[in-house]
Amino acid sequence: MNFKNIIVEIKEAVYLITINRPNHLNALNNETIIELNIAINQAQKSNTTRCIVLTGAGEKAFVAGADIKEFVKYTKEEGEALARRGQEQLFDLLENSAIPTIALINGYALGGGLELAMACHIRIATENAMLGLPEVSLGVIPGYGGTQRLTHLVGKGKAIEIITTASMMTAMEAKECGLVNYTCKKEEMSDLSEKIINKIKQNSPQAISKAIQSINACLTEGVNGFEIEKKLFGECFQTKDFIEGTQAFLEKRKPNFN
Ligand code: CAA
Repeated sequence: MNFKNIIVEIKEAVYLITINRPNHLNALNNETIIELNIAINQAQKSNTTRCIVLTGAGEKAFVAGADIKEFVKYTKEEGEALARRGQEQLFDLLENSAIPTIALINGYALGGGLELAMACHIRIATENAMLGLPEVSLGVIPGYGGTQRLTHLVGKGKAIEIITTASMMTAMEAKECGLVNYTCKKEEMSDLSEKIINKIKQNSPQAISKAIQSINACLTEGVNGFEIEKKLFGECFQTKDFIEGTQAFLEKRKPNFN
């Protein structure tokens, strides 16, 4: 499928999605969110994809937020619908993806852009990246899950500081407070992400998917994560990956989960 706002490249079981609106610092308009939804669903449906990677086109930004020009005249109802639609079509989809998702933050990750990165499972930021949730400076609050995911990632005190000051932090500061997993030089980004992806690829896709589900259960209101873990642990025993993984151990060879 041909997209207008994103570029999709599939290579060695990795589904690389580049948000491609560099003249708007890759701001997320409705059309881009719909295209991302389609692409991520496509990746999920393929039996060969082992990792979904998101990044931004151009030199300056990962994503500089929701498209302010698009929502500037919205009513209360339209505002709520924007947040609801975006969260359901994109942000929840990424967080609940059975395939690991990685955000390569290659510049500004602001507002909806940082929220997009936070919905991914792993975040790597280049040293020049600037991150923040500046929504209150516009008279709104983060609407793509930012108040929730930031709090989970960095704790309530830091989340309140980051959101109420609307200030940008460097990649190093983001690493120090647990907001990103790694920082690296721009030229090291692809080697570092490849290293992580290669490790993921050696492991059981079926177990990885259940591990993600179980970890997410820890943060789901009204759900007992320990109970989910017990159930999913049991389910692993009926998978082909479990047979392969344990047989490989007994036969003193590397497992082949492909
Ligand atoms: N929405 C729409 N357009 C945006 C944008 C955004 N979030 N961010 C940048 N752009 C556009 C600019 O309007 C500009 O377009 P024009 O040339 O047509 O004017 C172009 O991208 C380049 O941007 P700048 O000229 O501003 O670049 P800069 O280097 O001077 O500044 C920046 C960079 C500091 C990131 C600045 O662009 C900026 O502050 N952007 C807005 C960041 C922001 O507030 N994000 C939160 C959005 S609200 C949100 O995300 C709500 C939610 O949670 C759902």
